Amino acid sequence: MGFVIAVDGPAASGKGTIAVKLGQLYGLPVLDSGLLYRAVGVKVLAEGGDLADAAAATAAARSLESAELESPTVRTRGAGEAASRVAVHTPVREALRDYQRAFAAQEPGAVIDGRDIGTVIAPDAPAKLYITATPQARADRRWKQLIGQGEAVSFEEILADIRTRDARDEARADSPMVAAPDAVLLDTTEMTIDAAFDAARRIVEAARSRWETAKG
Ligand code: C5P
Repeated sequence: MGFVIAVDGPAASGKGTIAVKLGQLYGLPVLDSGLLYRAVGVKVLAEGGDLADAAAATAAARSLESAELESPTVRTRGAGEAASRVAVHTPVREALRDYQRAFAAQEPGAVIDGRDIGTVIAPDAPAKLYITATPQARADRRWKQLIGQGEAVSFEEILADIRTRDARDEARADSPMVAAPDAVLLDTTEMTIDAAFDAARRIVEAARSRWETAKG
């Protein structure tokens, strides 16, 4: 395995931005694994299906094409909610697993952000971060982002979304959202994005030194 950086954590913790910046710093490709689940949810809804229908969601996951990840619809509030509802189905997770593992297997490495990267997709990743922030801080960031995208939504609605999504992601039986035992926790509640990235970079630098020493 190359230098894989697993960046897990809840919605709007800053993990996506940190993952992209780490990718730029180390010259590694970046995968936002949440987009896969979002695209599956969006596809089920577009086909008039039910998000609770595991067979429909699995068919959507198996037939997913890269263009579907680029649609602006996958970045909406509704897509996040739909994603967490299809993400509970084990066959959906299995259908998306090989793609993510192949991404992680690239040389010289990869950065992947999600919920189960350090636990399930790349348990041997040399660098693992678990990025958190309070629900209020995350709701505030997500709310500003959605307002900027032109969505008419209140802060309270977004906070409620975040709490529902955290609860669902933590409670699911398959690959729940949890920090890997060897992940370094980073709480970004009081940090600007620059400060959060700086802290993440230091953690990853330390992991990279250990990884290089171990490689010999
Ligand atoms: O990261 P993002 O908010 O885009 O993820 C959307 C949803 O997709 C999450 O709430 C979670 O239910 C699901 N997801 C997952 N495993 C991942 C990434 C995302 O279950 N690795």
